[in-house]
Amino acid sequence: MSLRHFLTTQDYSRAEIDALLEQAAAFKRSPRGQQLAGKSVALLFFNPSMRTRTSFELGAFHLGGHAIVLSPGKDAWPIEFRPNVVMDGEAEEHIAEVARVLSRYVDLIAVRAFPKFQDWSVDREDAVIKAFAQYATVPVINMETITHPCQELAHALALKERFGDLTGRKYVLTWTYHPKPLNTAVANSALLIATKMGMDVTLLCPTPDYVLDERYMAFGEQNAKENGGSLKVSHNIEEAYSGADVVYAKSWGALPFFGRWENEKPIRDAHKHFIVDEAKMALTNNGVFSHCLPLRRNIKATDAVMDSPACIAVDEAENRLHVQKAVMASLIAQR
Ligand code: CP
Repeated sequence: MSLRHFLTTQDYSRAEIDALLEQAAAFKRSPRGQQLAGKSVALLFFNPSMRTRTSFELGAFHLGGHAIVLSPGKDAWPIEFRPNVVMDGEAEEHIAEVARVLSRYVDLIAVRAFPKFQDWSVDREDAVIKAFAQYATVPVINMETITHPCQELAHALALKERFGDLTGRKYVLTWTYHPKPLNTAVANSALLIATKMGMDVTLLCPTPDYVLDERYMAFGEQNAKENGGSLKVSHNIEEAYSGADVVYAKSWGALPFFGRWENEKPIRDAHKHFIVDEAKMALTNNGVFSHCLPLRRNIKATDAVMDSPACIAVDEAENRLHVQKAVMASLIAQR
């Protein structure tokens, strides 16, 4: 049997996603277990984290396992990930050895590796985690790269807790202003999971330049077709928010401006009115608002929205703990 990783929810059927969500809900009701007894997980962070680190570390502990946190380039050697490269730069070792050695020590390897926006490119974002999956002999978990699949599960669980069956719910994924052109990971993920759950999804963004990468739009179309939902793009705030059950906000950079971020700045700066505020939420069908966090208050969403009962961002963050236990337990159970 080939080794199963958790790199993207696109590798998992709707039935498998539903099973993970059911197991996560069970962990939420009964947080302790022995599913990881005697097992260990290496958590590699190429980027900062608060929620992901805390929830994975505690999740392993709650299930009888042990987590080791490593930050390549800080408390571990800087790592090279490109194949066939002459290693005369900063990196001391290649992912090939890191993944193979860690596989001799631990039972799971989890990796966060999203580039700074200055370095962003479609191919590079995937390269690090793909290299880990290539060389590791234990399952690899994506803790955010070009997508953020653990966030997807936490988001879906929070929505199911509020609505039950999500099929046909009206879902708005809205771009929001941020002073920097951030990467598209969570936006890609919101698109994947919302369509996978059969919702009617509107991608709301300022101009066509902000439509997500064509691969993710295609995955969204495919998911919607398979699960009874739909996907459309809108640049009209009022139309998109009207009657929505769910508003999910994220900032991301416009793909056509890759490498020319300063050219994007005037467009980005002209759309600060995409902020999620009470007036926009009043257009919804008594809808909920969420965000992956961290969130810059009064830039992406107002205090009034963040502090309202409609905001389920903290529920979603809590669910990271439960869904990641389900992912770790299921990957360990396959071995
Ligand atoms: N949402 C999320 O992944 O949070 P952190 O960056 O704090 O881990």
